This record gives sequence, C-alpha cells and structure tokens, in this order.
Amino acid sequence: MATCNLENALDTLKTIVGTRGWLSFEDAQKYFIDPRDRIQGYAPLVLMPQSTLHVSEILRICNSTKLGIVPFGGGTGGVCGHIATREQPSVVLSLERMNSIRSLDIINNSMTVEAGCILKAVQEAARINDRRFGLSLASEGSCQIGGNLASNAGGIQVLRYGNTRDLCLGIEAVMPDGSILNDLQTVRKNNTGYDLRHLLIGSEGTLGVITAAALKLLPLPKESISAMVSVRSPDSAVELLHLLGDRLGGTLSAFELMSYLGMKLALQYFPVQRDPFSKPYSWYIIMDIEGRKGIRLEVENCLAKAFESGLVLDSVIGQSEAQRNQLWQLRELAYEYNKLAGAFCSSDTAVPIDQINTFITRVTRDILCINSELRINTYGHIGDGNIHINVFPPEHVDKADFLKTHPHIQKNTYECVNQATQLCGGSISAEHGIGRMKTDDLLAYGDPTKLSLMRAIKQAIDPNGIMNPGAVL
Ligand code: LAC
Ligand code: ZN
Repeated sequence: MATCNLENALDTLKTIVGTRGWLSFEDAQKYFIDPRDRIQGYAPLVLMPQSTLHVSEILRICNSTKLGIVPFGGGTGGVCGHIATREQPSVVLSLERMNSIRSLDIINNSMTVEAGCILKAVQEAARINDRRFGLSLASEGSCQIGGNLASNAGGIQVLRYGNTRDLCLGIEAVMPDGSILNDLQTVRKNNTGYDLRHLLIGSEGTLGVITAAALKLLPLPKESISAMVSVRSPDSAVELLHLLGDRLGGTLSAFELMSYLGMKLALQYFPVQRDPFSKPYSWYIIMDIEGRKGIRLEVENCLAKAFESGLVLDSVIGQSEAQRNQLWQLRELAYEYNKLAGAFCSSDTAVPIDQINTFITRVTRDILCINSELRINTYGHIGDGNIHINVFPPEHVDKADFLKTHPHIQKNTYECVNQATQLCGGSISAEHGIGRMKTDDLLAYGDPTKLSLMRAIKQAIDPNGIMNPGAVL
C-alpha cells in the first residue's frame, strides 16, 4: 500500500475508535513480544474498539484498503498466531475493551459474553450462579474467551468437558467485509445449513473476528477433589486412567501427567513449591474429580485399591482448597519452568490413548539418538491423549550457546516429534493451533485435500487476504 494511503487509512481507523481506543507501536510493546523470543512483532497501530459496530467499521476500512488485521486476545497463544509482523503490513485489533457479560440464563444453562472477557471472569460469573464453565487453562487469569474460541483452546479438562468448540452454542462475528454474523444462538439443536460457528472457531482469526459468544454452562458439581499420585510409567498412567474412568462414572475431569524432571524443575525454579511426596518418583499424575457429595470416599477407595495392586506407588489427596491449588501449581507452572530451564522444543501432540506409551517411548528414544545428553520433560493432558514434549540442552549448558554450536538440533528434534506423531496416528497441533510457527508443518503433514479446501474457503470469505495474514495458511 502506498505510504499516503496507509497514513489515511490509519487516521480513519484512529477516528473510529477515538483517542483512548488506539496505541502506536512505541506505546504498545506487550502486543509484539513473543514470550519464547521466536519472532519480533510490529504494527504501526493497535486498535482497541469498544463495540461490534466499531469492529465492523474497522474491518470495512481495512478490506477496502487491503490492510491486514491481526486479532489479539490475551496474548498467551503458543504459536505466535496473535503477533503481527513487518512482512505483512497490518494493524492489531485487541478486543480487551469488549469484556462485558451480556447475559446469563440459569434455566437455559448458557451465558453470552463479549470476546475480551478474561476466561477466569467467565468461570467466576458461572460459579457465583452455581454453574460450571468447563474450560480451564494454566493461563486462565489472562487469556480471553475470544482467543480461546479463535484457537479452539483445549487445556486440562477436555477429558470431561471437551475443547472450547464443544462449549460454545453460538457466536457473533465480524466478517472481512465488515458484515456482522448474528448467530448468538443458545439452543442445543440447530440444523439450519452450514455451521459457520464451527468454521470460525479454531480459524485463528483468518476468516473473521469473533466479537461475542453464547457459552454452554453445566450445574456446579457438589464436591471437587484434587489428588496427585505417582506411577511407574506412562503405561501405568493409562491403566489408571482406564480404571478410574470405569469406577468413577464419568466424574474424572482432569488427568495430567508430570515427569520426574518436571517436578524437579518446579522445585528448582519455584522454591516456594513443595514436593507432596517424601521421595522422588519417575512419573506423577495430577487429577480432578468433580461430582455429587460423597465422591471423595469413592476416590479414596479407588486409589487405595490401585495402591494395593501396585499400580499406584504413592498418593496424596488435597484436604483443602489451598492444598488443591498447591498440587496444581506444580503442574500449571510447567510453561514457566520449561522456559527458565531453556526448552528449545515445546511440542503439542495428540495421539489416541492406546498409542500414548508407544509415542513417548519412540520420541524419547529418537531424541536421545540425536544427542544422548539432551534432557526431556514429557508431560501434559494424558487423559485426552495430548502430550507436550519439552527438550533442553544438557545440564549447565546455555540454550543460546547450545543452539549456536548445534544449528540443526532444534529442527531435528521437532522432526522426531512430528514423525512419531504421524506414525501413531496423531495430530501435530493438539490444542495450540498453527499460528505463524507451524505453517510449514501443516503443509508437510496436512491432508492435501483438506489444505486445498481450506485455501478455497479462505479465498471465498477473505478474498483480499486481510485476516491475520501469515497465520495458518
Ligand atoms: C500446558 C500448555 C503449554 O499444557 O499447553 O502447560
Ligand atoms: Zn497444554
């Protein structure tokens, strides 16, 4: 775009949102930082509209001037889908000021919220009305529901409640030409043609901007329990998952794997954390069970039996809300301690549950074949088959130095993970999306027919390619 056209477009955009509704690049650094330092973002302008009509006007202007738009939620995405770059001239569209809860219907078990609502605020609004919103992520204190929907976020309770997609009844979205899709349905059944809600959810801002959503709620469980147990191997973890799934009648809502190295890093980098056990173990499971009153006794009985049979080596059940939080901190700090320990590979694989052990065994073997001194933290949402493999340089070796002296190691490590994923019939991006980091992987591992249909859909809905240019496709 010619400089004076760009300047005119930027001025018009500023007028739409008013003086408090925009920031220039210099004043808006947080929108351009990748926490893992993989890319450096840039855009001349960050827009913070306050209404769907403003979003519509913004998109209309961007479409007519062919200026890119990068939608921005809480900025917690793992694949840089929300970071505008210099390669594709764009403005950032942050929905943070559109953060009201429009309505909550207890009888219908639904609530309608704007895209900029922080996930924790959504959970809390449901809870004070004796309702449960079943999405839970480590970043729930800062991620926004619009970003969760755009990336179809997963998290720790997919096992019971599904991905964000499964928790959404309807959406309001602005399409690239500025038209508004009014589909804030709260019904459970609606077979009236193509389901555009599901096309936009998970499209990572490449087809339109989700401005509001009708979310599905459930009655609040009467009793919630968190427990941590130690097991011998991921295979034992899967056996325990199966056993508890059968015995506890669908009340298991989270079932997360931690490794010895994960526990060690949590204690090393966050000295206020405490190991709940008196000695180290190879593998840990942290789980949540939510159900009717009295479920605690059933959980205790199940774990006692699993202990007697030798499947569980040790266990601790949180006795208070504070203890539950302490147990979960060990798991939820994973992103932080992996980063502090210099992870240069952070994967996001899903495999069928029966392939978990094969996948972990294979990936560990192949990565150690590249360099036997690499350290691997394997952890994640084992209850739904989503495993994160984090790989670090040998102990006491600096990440930047190591990558400099081993220029191919990062690429080779990711390739090991992707190949094992494919062999196990899995997904190379389980819950984080494609963003700007996995576009090559999508080309390499995506089904060709799917890719060509995706391109056709993109062309039909966003012919000028303004929506999140450079992401996904
Ligand atoms: C987690 C993020 C990295 O599960 O997905 O900790
Ligand atoms: Zn995860």
